[in-house]
Amino acid sequence: MCGIVGILGREAIAFDLVEGLKRLEYRGYDSAGVAVLEGGEITRVRAEGKLKNLEAKLREAPLSGRAGIGHTRWATHGKPTENNAHPHATERLAVVHNGIIENFRELREELQAEGRVFASETDTEVVAHLVTALMDKQMSAEEAVAAALPRLHGAFALGFVFRGEDNLLIGARRGAPLAVGHGDGEMYLGSDALALAPFTDTITYLEDGDWVVLNRASARYFNEKNQPVKRKAQKTQAGAFLVDKGNHRHFMAKEIHEQPEVIGRTLAHYIDMGTGEVRLPFGLPFDWAKVGRLSISACGTAYLAGQIGKYWFERLARLPVEIDIASEFRYREAPMTPGDVMLVISQSGETADTLAALRYAKDQKQHVMSVVNVPTSTIARESHVVAGTLAGPEIGVASTKAFTCQLTVLACLAIAAGRARGVLSGRREKELVTQLIAIPGLVAEALKHEAPIEALARELSKATDVLYLGRGTSFPLAMEGALKLKEISYIHAEGYAAGELKHGPIALIDETMPVIVMAPRDPWFEKTVSNVQEVAARGGAIVLIGPEGVGREVAVDTLAEIAMPEMAPDFSAFVYAIPAQLIAYHTAVVMGKDVDQPRNLAKSVTVE
Ligand code: F6R
Repeated sequence: MCGIVGILGREAIAFDLVEGLKRLEYRGYDSAGVAVLEGGEITRVRAEGKLKNLEAKLREAPLSGRAGIGHTRWATHGKPTENNAHPHATERLAVVHNGIIENFRELREELQAEGRVFASETDTEVVAHLVTALMDKQMSAEEAVAAALPRLHGAFALGFVFRGEDNLLIGARRGAPLAVGHGDGEMYLGSDALALAPFTDTITYLEDGDWVVLNRASARYFNEKNQPVKRKAQKTQAGAFLVDKGNHRHFMAKEIHEQPEVIGRTLAHYIDMGTGEVRLPFGLPFDWAKVGRLSISACGTAYLAGQIGKYWFERLARLPVEIDIASEFRYREAPMTPGDVMLVISQSGETADTLAALRYAKDQKQHVMSVVNVPTSTIARESHVVAGTLAGPEIGVASTKAFTCQLTVLACLAIAAGRARGVLSGRREKELVTQLIAIPGLVAEALKHEAPIEALARELSKATDVLYLGRGTSFPLAMEGALKLKEISYIHAEGYAAGELKHGPIALIDETMPVIVMAPRDPWFEKTVSNVQEVAARGGAIVLIGPEGVGREVAVDTLAEIAMPEMAPDFSAFVYAIPAQLIAYHTAVVMGKDVDQPRNLAKSVTVE
């Protein structure tokens, strides 16, 4: 989801901004720009397409300024035109932005009512005008940013420069990452350490909700309550490696925390933020309205993403779905009606069983669509249509961000199918899209509950077996929680449909058995609560994951309660995936396991 670089340098910095942006090219982008202070005035240069177009413009009219910001944009709100490219500016400031400002429409109306004129279709421009409006009320740049940030909803990172302020750069992060780079009499801002690798290896990572005021000699950090805070600088390996762990101990932790950003980036690829509609970035060789059955096949976590997708396709598009583990599907000799659709899901795009399922489906004259994270992979190359997940490289063997990006694509495809099949009205589609746009922000909220999960992990590390329960999409999510836990902590865990409990697994329950219950406020909430009571009656050690105060509603003794933000029920799986991942992660850490490379597992399973 875009890249940010900011520099307070000693010499002309325009080409250094581009150099930093080049390191972020892997994130994908379709326009780029810089804003540099030239004699105190903000000068912007922006270009459609790749960085070489921006470089050509900069060579034609070189800039001499020593302070500036740069950006690569992956179009979200509005087309990838020069006019929509960042930085966005007013007479007082320029700003670059990653992520989504959820309430941009409200803010834009408010600012337009004050007579402020917008020049682009982007959500970013509201940030420029909002901070400018506050500065017009005699606030300093720093005061205005402090007052503006609480008004912005969503997951984002921002970088600002101000007219007449050649020694000031302000950055802010919520949900999307941002790092400060410390040079010798120079200071940098970057959306990850990689962008800053050409300039410095001394990096301070902002914590979520932080913002920072930089000059060439110092950095002052504030938390989301605008209180001054201290943040430590550290040496990074980013120069040596393509991907680094940032300030996390493990790749898995980094990847869990990247989710607000990568879900947002993937959403932006499939949603027209301006109209609030799903817009697939590719043509389809079939008409959803004529598809009789959708088959889905995948392995492991990707298969469980498909299970959740099945609920969405059936409910939102009334499309019959059959889903199979690829290793079974490939030999099942399933009859398929020519002209139907086969969806395969894979992070690596190289999984041998999934590839075999794809080839079988092709033989059966299916239209094959793949949801893959590696666009150059074999599965992508052999598919008729590729619906990419934009999770970026996933290094931890246990899949986390690829999973939620797969969910993102599946949700968008289900909505597109629902519209094409005449099941979803325009109003309902917009309602669902609004819910999806809120997901990165809700996931960022859910990520704040790490402390109680760390405490719970110490308890779980003593268990030999763990049960996960859920209904609706929380059932496959329960299986995913169990899979994550067993993969990296080696504790035996099972995921069950909560309603299935009394048909067998309830026999296992005693006080030594932790039972983790996913209880979002959905239409089955009351039924899930009854199942929790069944567990309580048998002395099970209950871990309740549900909306704030769920424990009071359920009224049972619990081992732990993990509060999730209140949300509409349709897409709760995204948010409830976070505690499941964090529980597995922290339990494995407490137990001293090799989190990123668990025993016996490989990242890409290219054998049967
Ligand atoms: C679990 C996990 C595996 C993979 C599975 C499929 O954390 O990572 O279960 O999901 O091996 O891999 P891909 O998605 O590469 O096809």
